[in-house]
Amino acid sequence: MVRYDLDKRILHGGDYNPDQWLDYPEIIKNDMELMRSAHINTVTLGVFAWSALEPEEGKFCFGWMDDIFERVHQFGGNVILATPSGGRPKWLSQKYPEVNRTDSLGRKHTHGSRHDHCYSSPVYREKVRIINRKLAERYGQHPALSMWHVSNEYSGECFCEYCQENWRQWLKSKYGSLDNINKAWWMSFWSSTYSDWKQILPPSPLGENKVHGMDLDWKRFVTDQTIDFYQAEIAPLREITPQIPVTTNFMAEGQNNHDFIPLEGIDYGKFSKYVDVVSWDSYPDWNNNYESIAKTAMKSAYVHDQYWSLKQQPFIVMESTPSGVNWHQFNKNKRPGVHILSSMQQIAHGSDSTLYFQWRSARGNSEKFHGAVLGYNHSDSDRVFREVSEYGKRLEKIAAVKGADKKSRVAIIFDWESNWALKRGGGFGRPTRLYPQTLQDHYSVFWEKDIAVDIITVEHDFGKYDLLIAPLLYLVTEKTISKLQEYVRQGGTLVSSYFTGMVNETDLLYFGGLPDGLKKLLGIKVLELDTLYENEHNVISFKNTEYQTKDYSAIIETIDADVLAVYQTEFYAKTPAVTKKCFGKGTSYFLAARNSTDFLQDFYAKIIQDLHLGNSLVQYSLPEVSIQTRYNNSEKYHFFMNFSTKEKTMELTRELTDMEHPAKISRHLTLKPYEVKVAKEKMADEPNKW
Ligand code: GLA
Ligand code: ZN
Repeated sequence: MVRYDLDKRILHGGDYNPDQWLDYPEIIKNDMELMRSAHINTVTLGVFAWSALEPEEGKFCFGWMDDIFERVHQFGGNVILATPSGGRPKWLSQKYPEVNRTDSLGRKHTHGSRHDHCYSSPVYREKVRIINRKLAERYGQHPALSMWHVSNEYSGECFCEYCQENWRQWLKSKYGSLDNINKAWWMSFWSSTYSDWKQILPPSPLGENKVHGMDLDWKRFVTDQTIDFYQAEIAPLREITPQIPVTTNFMAEGQNNHDFIPLEGIDYGKFSKYVDVVSWDSYPDWNNNYESIAKTAMKSAYVHDQYWSLKQQPFIVMESTPSGVNWHQFNKNKRPGVHILSSMQQIAHGSDSTLYFQWRSARGNSEKFHGAVLGYNHSDSDRVFREVSEYGKRLEKIAAVKGADKKSRVAIIFDWESNWALKRGGGFGRPTRLYPQTLQDHYSVFWEKDIAVDIITVEHDFGKYDLLIAPLLYLVTEKTISKLQEYVRQGGTLVSSYFTGMVNETDLLYFGGLPDGLKKLLGIKVLELDTLYENEHNVISFKNTEYQTKDYSAIIETIDADVLAVYQTEFYAKTPAVTKKCFGKGTSYFLAARNSTDFLQDFYAKIIQDLHLGNSLVQYSLPEVSIQTRYNNSEKYHFFMNFSTKEKTMELTRELTDMEHPAKISRHLTLKPYEVKVAKEKMADEPNKW
């Protein structure tokens, strides 16, 4: 069914834009030869090629694309074919202005930017359907076609009349009556009750912009509307090419300076159910001046693990840069060695590809200085080209990893809806909500110890994990509470925290210091949540050691939980700061304050020991060396990655086989700065569970 699996190679290549070079036939002529020498096997074609494919309404030009398909096929490559809706042609915006977005101030955009189309416009949907159908009919049976790349980086909102009407319909089908909406959003506040459906408008700085429940539903609507548009896009593809997998490229973002977290605006937990393969565009800020490369690697690992976990199957890195990007204030090139290291990390965490934006720099316009395999010198003797080729060669040697599974006994929960509601809620410390960033703090403990972690949503099965980490789960439904209870009752270990369980699904408060089900599960009641200024701290005492806390302190009282740590200062000194309760066959912990990393390391050390989670490959883990493993039925593939500028030596507990050289890997394994080694072993060789 999934055709790309028939290709045993790990996909290596990326965005290829011959549509920009149609006047330069000698460039196109040489591309395939150059790709061969860069060990590239896949091109992503047509991402923004609509005006080259349909230069005038209804007049189609496929000749150039036919030619490229043939060339790629001749050299044995795959085509990932994009639908072109990410960038519409100018004639379309000119003739049908409704396709352009309207912003939250009611301003109609003119043509200018990509990704700026209305998801509701019937004309846009129709035009997209026509071009997508033509592409599917023309290339659907072509042997080089391996995957659909639908549109590009869906994101954003539109507030036009069509979108407003869809918003009202969405609310009607969700709530049935205005009365239900008034109650769900608490509209008796400020005399806001609706008495006519026509009064319902989207949130806007010019109108309603303080209704938390409304903002939450608007974000849900935007996700649903985006998925609805996507489904309209893929209808002809499903009909004509049911055998070809469909994906769309997800994103990561830096919300505060120095962040690297999955995109917050769209609920990818929901969206991922509609794609065959998760794919995403990975642009960590490698070699920056504000953190160690190991820290950047940890954040990047977290996002990979999250995208793995959405479907719990291999994903595709659809874009990454071979050197730098062009959209930071300072755009650093990756240091020698970092390209291979950072790309191998993708494979180590479950990607079946390394694809780039982009094969060749455009000669002009906004991205001419963005990194590319053939960068702004267009030279195949440049360092970047050589590193890409070397990496491609290495991928060929580790091709057996393709399709291999991952196994984690630890999961962290991230919930898009909780994140939206928590950030919108007002009160407390606004800049310090930091939900995904706090999850990364917890994650880093495991990453440094080479323990695999999944990042799941509340909809995933909890039962397969021994440890479930769910701090800051602000919005909880009764269903989630029951799932958490059942998980612990059956023997699971749960870690919860301040900010958990404050509101229900429409952002209405739970009174009484936690919903009853959580009180039972955690054995505590929350009395207050104290906010600390950015330079303030409290101190907790845990096992006779003192640790600083920051940002938040929940003031709690126990019902029937044990107290493991208490606060040292403030009016709540001596009250519980960490608790533990045995519930059914399992255990639940509550962390009342935002803790420092050294606390988290010590806190989890005991749990790691009790649950035997440690990585049995090494005698002890080195924090800047990461080990990740993928599994197939008979073999395991271990990636040893040195994210430091120093040589690192580790002691392995057993001998492994080097996948790239006909040799054993010594138990005394030394990695040079930025070096990666990939080893394999037979399943039966290892005594433990995996
Ligand atoms: C995104 C887009 C690409 C390109 C890159 C630049 O990922 O999908 O078209 O603009 O960013 O980093
Ligand atoms: Zn619209």
